[in-house]
Amino acid sequence: MSKNSTEEKQAAAAAEWEPSIVGFLCRWCSYAGADLAGSSRMEYPPNVNVIRVPCSGRIDPLFVLKAFQQGADGVLVSGCHPGDCHYAEGNYYARRRMTLLKRLLEFLGYHPHRLRLEWVSAAEAREFAEVVKDMVEQVKALGPAERYADFDGRPGAVAGLEPSIPVEVPVVGEGERK
Ligand code: FES
Repeated sequence: MSKNSTEEKQAAAAAEWEPSIVGFLCRWCSYAGADLAGSSRMEYPPNVNVIRVPCSGRIDPLFVLKAFQQGADGVLVSGCHPGDCHYAEGNYYARRRMTLLKRLLEFLGYHPHRLRLEWVSAAEAREFAEVVKDMVEQVKALGPAERYADFDGRPGAVAGLEPSIPVEVPVVGEGERK
């Protein structure tokens, strides 16, 4: 096979590539908003695999890391607007967690646009469709995410995912543990 035809095939595959996005949606607001978008026949890209959660505060950062580990190119976290959480402050916890998680992902080599937090109410079907369209475009522009082979604490980052800042992990001896 000639070099040109291999390159052409690679270019064609890249042009056809569609990002896979996992969406963790709060059942009370964002999931209902997504449902309304569907029942109102609004068009938006079918790239988001929706996982319904009781509240955005239920989303453990490990869920997001697992999604990336298992091949997601982007993760959307969406819940009720601030002040509207059905559990009073779950979305405030989600906001803090996702802010920190973004920084961790950056450290691991992921572009921060691969994780997105959005507030979408049950009535905001159009907004949900717009968020999905916009996120798919953003992730498409970034290309496929490198899979991080090992989130279990052992060293083993895949090639090209070098931490952007060096980290020194202090070794704590048995007697020094508090
Ligand atoms: Fe929707 Fe908490 S119930 S974010």
